[in-house]
Amino acid sequence: MRTPLKIVLVGLPGSGKSSLGKLLAKQLNFVFIDLDHLIEQETGKKISEIFAEQGEGKFRELESIYLNKVLDGVEGFVLSTGGGTPCFNDNMDLINEKAVSVYLEVPLEEILKRLSNDQIGKRPLFSGLGQGEIILKLKNLLASREMYYLQSKIKLQGEDISPEMLISE
Ligand code: S3P
Repeated sequence: MRTPLKIVLVGLPGSGKSSLGKLLAKQLNFVFIDLDHLIEQETGKKISEIFAEQGEGKFRELESIYLNKVLDGVEGFVLSTGGGTPCFNDNMDLINEKAVSVYLEVPLEEILKRLSNDQIGKRPLFSGLGQGEIILKLKNLLASREMYYLQSKIKLQGEDISPEMLISE
């Protein structure tokens, strides 16, 4: 049996935190938690509605509140965070204090492919942007966020990061 852990996945939108998190949790027999989904469930609002009605500041506040709650829960979970979660309110320090952090470093070209128009609708940071603007936005986000992501205990790189890659680490 594997020792229960708190595993927290971080990385840019489209880096595969939720997809990998689900697979990993299944393989380890851990609970999977998606921070955005948790916020939506608890507030009864879509993330895009919170951004539109209450602004990004309120979203960041809620994000930190629910991150804290999850981190204080029992071991044996995989948490997929939002792309900005580790970059506000000292959240990265908190994550590293209480869990094993994992950075999914996926090439920007691959992320761009994944962020189909459908998914963009659910991601307020990218809504209304054309392809050229999305790649610019991704580059800017990476430039400002990489310093947080790189504080992760484990870093996995590639277009196709698998649960096995993480388990072997
Ligand atoms: C955000 C990423 C989103 C979501 C919110 C803000 C960000 O999550 O938390 O729209 O600041 O990068 P994903 O990384 O799952 O897209």
